[in-house]
Amino acid sequence: YGKYDFIVVSNRLPVDRVAEDDGEGWRRSPGGLVTALAPVMSSSEGAWVGWHGAPDETVEPFEHDDTHLVPVPLSEEEVEFYYEGFSNATLWPLYHDVIAPPEFHRNWWDAYKAVNRRFAEATAAIAAEGATVWVQDYQLQLVPRLLRHLRPDLRIGFFNHIPFPPVEIFAQLPWRRQVLEGLLGADLVGFQRASDTSNFLRAVRRYTGSLIKQHFVELHDEAGRRECRADTFPISIDVARINELARRPDVVERSRQIREEVGDRTILLGVDRLDYTKGIGHRIKAYGELLEDGKLQVEDTVLIQVASPSRERVESYRLLRDDIEASVGRINGTFDTLGKTAIRYLHHSYPTEEMVALYLAADVMLVTALRDGMNLVAKEYVAARTGVDGALVLSEFTGASDHLRQAILVNPHDIDGLKERILQALNLPKGEATRRMRAMRRQILQNDVEHWSQTFLHALAAGRG
Ligand code: G6P
Repeated sequence: YGKYDFIVVSNRLPVDRVAEDDGEGWRRSPGGLVTALAPVMSSSEGAWVGWHGAPDETVEPFEHDDTHLVPVPLSEEEVEFYYEGFSNATLWPLYHDVIAPPEFHRNWWDAYKAVNRRFAEATAAIAAEGATVWVQDYQLQLVPRLLRHLRPDLRIGFFNHIPFPPVEIFAQLPWRRQVLEGLLGADLVGFQRASDTSNFLRAVRRYTGSLIKQHFVELHDEAGRRECRADTFPISIDVARINELARRPDVVERSRQIREEVGDRTILLGVDRLDYTKGIGHRIKAYGELLEDGKLQVEDTVLIQVASPSRERVESYRLLRDDIEASVGRINGTFDTLGKTAIRYLHHSYPTEEMVALYLAADVMLVTALRDGMNLVAKEYVAARTGVDGALVLSEFTGASDHLRQAILVNPHDIDGLKERILQALNLPKGEATRRMRAMRRQILQNDVEHWSQTFLHALAAGRG
């Protein structure tokens, strides 16, 4: 057996292999999963198994931030079939309410099975006797079962960072039973929202015929009778780190600079991976109409939209980018003056320091996702508002809206409603803004990412016979 007592397994490692001018380097990986797990890992002496982001390349295990990283190689074809295909053109749209049509291809499924097996084998090889393994997200749903088969001594947890769809939608998946059986290999399966957990349990009841008592699924395998528990563990962020950054003089100075750079106007801010689930187009449409209606003026308001590059070889993402950039161009072409731009659109990703400076500079934060497992950007904005001011417009289709009840909640499909909520946020009386922000800050201070991981890992350790 290997030597690690605690292992996290996710499709991506926390850093990506990138080509640089002077050779090869590493860059922080995109997305909420890494944002949440990086602080969890740096405080444990565990190992992290995942892909390093470069196709057709083998990389030896190495240390990073006190964590032992074990890179799993993917061939060019596996990147296409397993990652871009089955993970991001089948499961991602299927699990996000089919906002884009999912594609079902048997060769993608074959690659998904093969890669899941490789992840399970890489994990089995380094796990100490009786180790705890925590598998992450929709790319690796078959790993729990494969791993249990290889190593029945392990304690296996799984956490799904994205929504789990209603059974009526999940039903479309040709391999729905195999996916459920893959997940049921875990001792504990965690979800973001109570609705995700109950969607999962309904699917299990319908397609596996297992007996379910409250949150426990009864299973029978070679080793005899066992149980898999399904429950809700809403993820969060490293609140202390964001708070600290928001107080650092250079970050505060940078936020002042940002305000100056946009001409001391009122700032509306959107921050997302460029993904069709994020409702970026709805937000831009609402903002454009407010300019058109004369309710907002480019002289005194600006929308800053950070859209970080994501999954750029997947067709629906390419189309989305064209779409968003066309509407930004149209709105700017219509409303810009020589000196002032309506929308500052930034197709980049930035270090956390710069993001916190943006949060500090923004009067109103717009989170208008059409479906989102949690949305950590909303939580980061709240954590960064050390002045207990600012306003958050938050889609009710995000997991975050379960907890941030004092945000200005919105249905982003309702463009008129969205316009009203944006105006409401811009005109929030100071006292009310403070009252709302204080309540939201209290909520996330009590529920940071440490709380999330501890609650999950305690639940996983309990039940151990
Ligand atoms: C979401 C998913 C993660 C994923 C991230 C970035 O947060 O839940 O599993 O890693 O997006 O997407 P990418 O495809 O670049 O890994």
